[in-house]
Amino acid sequence: MKRYLITGASRGIGRAIAEELAAPDVTLMLHGRDTVALAQTRKSVESRCARVIPLIHDLAVTSGVSNLIAQVGSDPLDLLVNNAGIAVVKPFEEITMIEWEQTLGVNITAPFMLMQHFAPQMPPGSSIVNILSVAAKTGFPNWSSYCMSKFALEGLSQSIREELRDHRIRVINIYPAATDTDIWNNVDGNWPRDRMISAEEVAGAVAYALSRPADVMLENITLGNLSGDL
Ligand SMILES: NC(=O)c1ccc[n+]([C@@H]2O[C@H](COP(=O)([O-])OP(=O)(O)OC[C@H]3O[C@@H](n4cnc5c(N)ncnc54)[C@H](OP(=O)(O)O)[C@@H]3O)[C@@H](O)[C@H]2O)c1
Repeated sequence: MKRYLITGASRGIGRAIAEELAAPDVTLMLHGRDTVALAQTRKSVESRCARVIPLIHDLAVTSGVSNLIAQVGSDPLDLLVNNAGIAVVKPFEEITMIEWEQTLGVNITAPFMLMQHFAPQMPPGSSIVNILSVAAKTGFPNWSSYCMSKFALEGLSQSIREELRDHRIRVINIYPAATDTDIWNNVDGNWPRDRMISAEEVAGAVAYALSRPADVMLENITLGNLSGDL
């Protein structure tokens, strides 16, 4: 039996990854905060996988990450997907310290703590998937705190990838461009959803990378709409 942990699986890209990876020999440990939305994800996958374990924790604070780690328990993971993320989109002069710290907490500290705790117990052939963004490579006006967090996760995951090679653990980085999820609901402006990719396309890229032979690391996948950046 394999054990997969996916953060931010209550909606969007995380839910699509859960749906893509559900299989009879897999226990899906699905994290979120919204119990109703996470129950919807559970409903859509539970007939196709061995077991679903819902995990409700706020990752903006280190105590929430520690509680998630405790609930996952000591059995090794075969896959960790660091997907949960937030985007504060506003001029940098207007970003509050609370928003800054929440961005650091969810987008960087949580992946760091989860990789640091779980990687040493993961067996050879297992994988870590980090959901980054095209905002890990390019700065965009009004996306400073988000870009800051994704650039930071880029450096963190590149370095950890090198440290885990000898353990035969793959670190796979995914860089989606604009993807049609709820994350855009709170972003001011008129963003054309029809020029975004779907969460299912991102999940398909994750599944493809994981399906490669265990000694092949598809290190980075960037994907976006053919029409270009928004
Ligand atoms: N959509 C895009 O255009 C896009 C593009 C590139 C990269 N990404 C990245 O893809 C990942 C998923 O984003 P998405 O588009 O699927 O967004 P989404 O639909 O807003 O989902 C975000 C997920 O993160 C969880 N989350 C947010 N704040 C949290 C907190 N404080 N504690 C615990 N969980 C928290 C949410 O949980 P609850 O809803 O249960 O609170 C939800 O499951 C993020 O890392 C994002 O940066 C998105």
